[in-house]
Amino acid sequence: MKVLVTGGLGFIGSHTVVELQNEGFEVVIIDDCSNSSEKVLEGITAITGKSPLFEKLDLKEKSLVEDFFKRHHDIEGVIHFAASKAVGESVDKPLLYYENNIGTLVYLLKELSKKDRSSFIFSSSCTVYGQADKMPITEDAPVKEAESPYGNTKQMGEEIIRDTCKVTPNLNAIALRYFNPMGAHPSAEIGELPIGIPQNLVPFITQTGVGLREELSVFGDDYPTRDGTCVRDYIYVVDLAKAHVVALQRLLAKKNKANYEVFNVGTGKGSTVLEVIKSFEKVSGKKLKYKIVARRPGDITAAYADTTLANEELGWKSQYTLDEAMKSAWDWEQKIRN
Ligand code: WQD
Repeated sequence: MKVLVTGGLGFIGSHTVVELQNEGFEVVIIDDCSNSSEKVLEGITAITGKSPLFEKLDLKEKSLVEDFFKRHHDIEGVIHFAASKAVGESVDKPLLYYENNIGTLVYLLKELSKKDRSSFIFSSSCTVYGQADKMPITEDAPVKEAESPYGNTKQMGEEIIRDTCKVTPNLNAIALRYFNPMGAHPSAEIGELPIGIPQNLVPFITQTGVGLREELSVFGDDYPTRDGTCVRDYIYVVDLAKAHVVALQRLLAKKNKANYEVFNVGTGKGSTVLEVIKSFEKVSGKKLKYKIVARRPGDITAAYADTTLANEELGWKSQYTLDEAMKSAWDWEQKIRN
């Protein structure tokens, strides 16, 4: 069974390719390498012993997308990761984000709509909820005004898929709303490779731990939470990758109850920034240098998932603890720095 993974050289994409190969799928990767490297293919192959097909291709080129699907007419499923995802950058360059994240999605859906039956998994984000009113967050929590063009492209992406599925019964789609992905494959052959100064908490922590960064700035400790720092649902990237495989298998086995479904993918547990720091110190045995600074504009106080639907419908549940995920992140950081 041949499956296309767009953005398959990226952080979550590469871990998902590994889990797909472990399940016996033949994987084709499309990636424009704008935020990833072809070297990731070696890491994937080192883990599974199977080298995925790879095409360096810009999905913004409609004719290239059409040509790709003509050549790979036997593709039965698509997992779509390829997108720009830097929240801050999206504020400065909205058109780059709308062109890349929306234009490419439309071209993919046009091709899939031509097939007798197709299965499509969309990489969405808990960012669509904004600051939800109630914790834990369920899938029927209201989608709120996006805090950034990046977040808006996830909301618009879901609406585009929903509207297309309404009039395209042969198209079956699932949107997975990720919470905060973290960590690296236990083999330390693949992991997160942030370019430049990491925006996200965990890579900044591990880079500080390995001496690449002077100290971590904690963006505010005056939030209404148990220790004053923000709460997030940190999900191990291998758990998240496995959620994509079971979601795809649900569609391929025609077990979906509608041709457009949405699932939250998190651990169901919230951790504060200070608790994440403590986890790092516990697994690394190192004291982390950090200081409390002003809040970061756009940050919400708390977000963690109600995972009941994914547990019951997908039969999926996160297996790893924060400490185990953090250990994998730390092992990976030390490996790439040596
Ligand atoms: C987590 C917490 C920060 C860095 C973003 C995107 C979201 C998704 C995941 C793509 C917050 C604090 C962070 C630092 C800090 N991305 N922090 N010092 O903002 O929850 O979510 O990444 O889908 O869409 O919005 O993740 O890791 O940036 O921040 O104190 O140097 O860590 O304030 O409370 P976030 P994050």
